[in-house]
Amino acid sequence: MLKGNYPLERFSGINTPFYFYDLPLLQKTLDAITQETRASWKVHYALKANANPVILQLIAKAGFGADCVSGGEIRAALGAGFAPESIVYAGVGKADWEIRLGLEEGIGRFNVESEAELEVIEDVAAACGSVAPVSFRVNPDIGAHTLAGITTGLAENKFGIYHAQVDTVIRKAMQMPHVRFCGLHFHIGSQILDMTDFVALCNRINDICARLERQGITVGDINVGGGLGIEYGHPNHLPIADFKRYFQVFSKHIDGHRPLHFELGRSIVAPCGTLIARVLYVKAGLSRQFAILDAGMNDLVRPAMYHAVHRIENLSSDGPEAAYDVVGPICESSDVFGKGIIMNECRRGDFIAIRSAGAYGESMASCYNARPLPGAVFEEILESGRD
Ligand code: LLP
Repeated sequence: MLKGNYPLERFSGINTPFYFYDLPLLQKTLDAITQETRASWKVHYALKANANPVILQLIAKAGFGADCVSGGEIRAALGAGFAPESIVYAGVGKADWEIRLGLEEGIGRFNVESEAELEVIEDVAAACGSVAPVSFRVNPDIGAHTLAGITTGLAENKFGIYHAQVDTVIRKAMQMPHVRFCGLHFHIGSQILDMTDFVALCNRINDICARLERQGITVGDINVGGGLGIEYGHPNHLPIADFKRYFQVFSKHIDGHRPLHFELGRSIVAPCGTLIARVLYVKAGLSRQFAILDAGMNDLVRPAMYHAVHRIENLSSDGPEAAYDVVGPICESSDVFGKGIIMNECRRGDFIAIRSAGAYGESMASCYNARPLPGAVFEEILESGRD
């Protein structure tokens, strides 16, 4: 069925808007990833994509590590059952208390983004009487073919240490008694569907490792970041991303048999989440017809913020199709989910599905306009099987 299988009878008793998560699909996705990864690899789920505790618990139970970018995310990961040593912690602006928290909890890795941060980590670790395991985030100066707002690997971005400058920072770290140099970290952007971007990343990684090793610096492991994209336009065609193709790039193009770390977010959780809203009003404008929903940009900001496209469907109608500008109730003209969306004709009260919203949906929701945060509803995994 083109619209997906949603339990509408169940929805009718629940206040909209809310996120509906298909946990069986999430479990299948996790199984597909596990199937494709080597024993010496570790996939760290990027909590920023979705930190809902139910989602986190399922991912922790599947044996994944966690990729955190704040003290709050470290706490959420620990609370959901991720092993402390499986937590990696990145971010250009780690506060002292966050560094202390990471040390006290014994997290696996600090991904250090600047020389200034390295000095603070050394001081905080000295004060705690511990040694911080560090990797350096390298800015590889590689552009990913993706939305301008979410490319991160170019020299002009704030992230990481420029690749040509990393050698001196590593040498400095090797002299410090309270840090232990473990490896390198990269991340070139998000929603990347062109595998040649990842091939370019692998080539850059090989060059940097060869250069460091010529100087006698041993690189332990490599964290290649996240970024694998999903098919927003066709959520039913490819509900599970092509992990085989993605992981093959790294087995084929990274020299040697290095232990690799990955930090996938979107490709793990985006397909399993749908924002469910109701139509409040249908309004005929001068030249356009509006479907006004009870969900707004505070519930899902991606279309307003990045002009991101999500497939939108009317779950309550099989009537003739019509074109709608699908908008929310927020007092901003950017509160638009999609323009000229063709869907079955809308009536007040119809359920609308905004698909592939499991990543950067609920986690970016806000209370703008003093609106409550959206709720979460789960399609559970049946004990008898995973379907
Ligand atoms: N590792 C690092 C260092 C990152 O900065 C990110 C995402 C990830 C991993 C996970 O990337 P993923 O596999 O999810 O692409 N809010 C934007 C996306 C921002 C991505 C930020 N960094 C959106 O809604 O598209």
